[in-house]
Amino acid sequence: MRIGVPKEIKTLEFRVGATPGVVQQLRREGHEVFVEAGAGAGVGVADEVYAKAGAAILPTADAVFEAAELIVKVKEPQPIEIARLKPHHILFTYLHLAADRTQAQGLMASGCTAIAYETVTDRWGRLPLLAPMSQVAGRMAVDVGAYHLLRPHGGRGILLGGAPGVPPARVVILGGGVAGKHAAEMAIGLRADVTLFDISAARLEALDDQFGGRLKTAFSTHDAVAEILPMADLVIGCVLIPGAAAPKLATRADVAKMQSGAVLVDVAIDQGGCFETSRPTTHAAPTYVVDGVVHYCVTNMPGAAPLTSTYALSAATAPYISALASRGVDRALADDPGFAQGLNVLAGKIKHPAVARSLGL
Ligand SMILES: NC(=O)c1ccc[n+]([C@@H]2O[C@H](COP(=O)([O-])OP(=O)(O)OC[C@H]3O[C@@H](n4cnc5c(N)ncnc54)[C@H](O)[C@@H]3O)[C@@H](O)[C@H]2O)c1
Repeated sequence: MRIGVPKEIKTLEFRVGATPGVVQQLRREGHEVFVEAGAGAGVGVADEVYAKAGAAILPTADAVFEAAELIVKVKEPQPIEIARLKPHHILFTYLHLAADRTQAQGLMASGCTAIAYETVTDRWGRLPLLAPMSQVAGRMAVDVGAYHLLRPHGGRGILLGGAPGVPPARVVILGGGVAGKHAAEMAIGLRADVTLFDISAARLEALDDQFGGRLKTAFSTHDAVAEILPMADLVIGCVLIPGAAAPKLATRADVAKMQSGAVLVDVAIDQGGCFETSRPTTHAAPTYVVDGVVHYCVTNMPGAAPLTSTYALSAATAPYISALASRGVDRALADDPGFAQGLNVLAGKIKHPAVARSLGL
């Protein structure tokens, strides 16, 4: 199959859809790979390295879309990329369509087949292509939260770990899946006082076993979350209902009751966000303030750590790219029901039920 890897064009996005190692593997399997010039620059990989791995380097994104049938990316296609998609294209990337009607309509109009990393499941029902980026985003959420809690960065001026004789900051994590667990690990490592909410008893039990007394766990209800928010210094939103828009766990009135200079990091913003006051931001202007509360709502957090993220993502996507390229989209999806869960758009229709429900399509 002819596979294309365009350069990512979302604001301050430095990741790339396939590493030279993946290109080499695809070439060994007999496929052609077209990489846009400069696609690896953000991770320090020169065009020559891709060429040595067997890729044909093409000068423009137009040329890559023209040459390839399977387009492998990282972030959702931007409008100019959607305009390049044709019915014969298979797009394999993060889409997060449930919160993005414009993109959904663009993909439907293009007639392409779009498979979303974030809704592919494995045999245990987990999300193997979301997990690597959720691990990175969960860890990063504590870094950016700690940074923005400092007074010169707009926060209340509290150190996550406190100091001898001074209590640590209170961190609240909403959602104890992959991102939430990794956020908890980091916050505990920095000696914060951490409480994690989830709706799944099994998840809370597993986290309780893993962290013992170092993590407080609680069932997530609107009242329980509303009660703890006024005491929190840093709140990290990591909830997910696969394919669906994120549930709103805090209203504007709840946020208004928080301490001035407290920080909200809404990792779930790519699915619409879990605070009523959340709206998407970029790495260029990552925060804004509502009722004195600093909001960090960057939709592509791992894009800021492209070296770590590109290699983590590529390791997870490589077998799926191989399956698509070697068996073709119909066979690859028919052979693996979890992979078929990734199918979001086909021939002008939304195929994932939760996405369709969220969009009312
Ligand atoms: N902003 C970014 O750059 C970025 C990067 C990676 C992942 N994400 C997003 O992070 C979110 C979390 O991803 P994940 O891989 O950790 O998902 P996950 O499925 O592993 O975990 C989600 C958890 O949320 C829990 N949950 C669902 N509804 C809840 C509620 N009402 N209250 C409390 N908990 C609830 C689930 O039980 C589950 O344990 C997703 O929206 C994902 O798209 C964002």
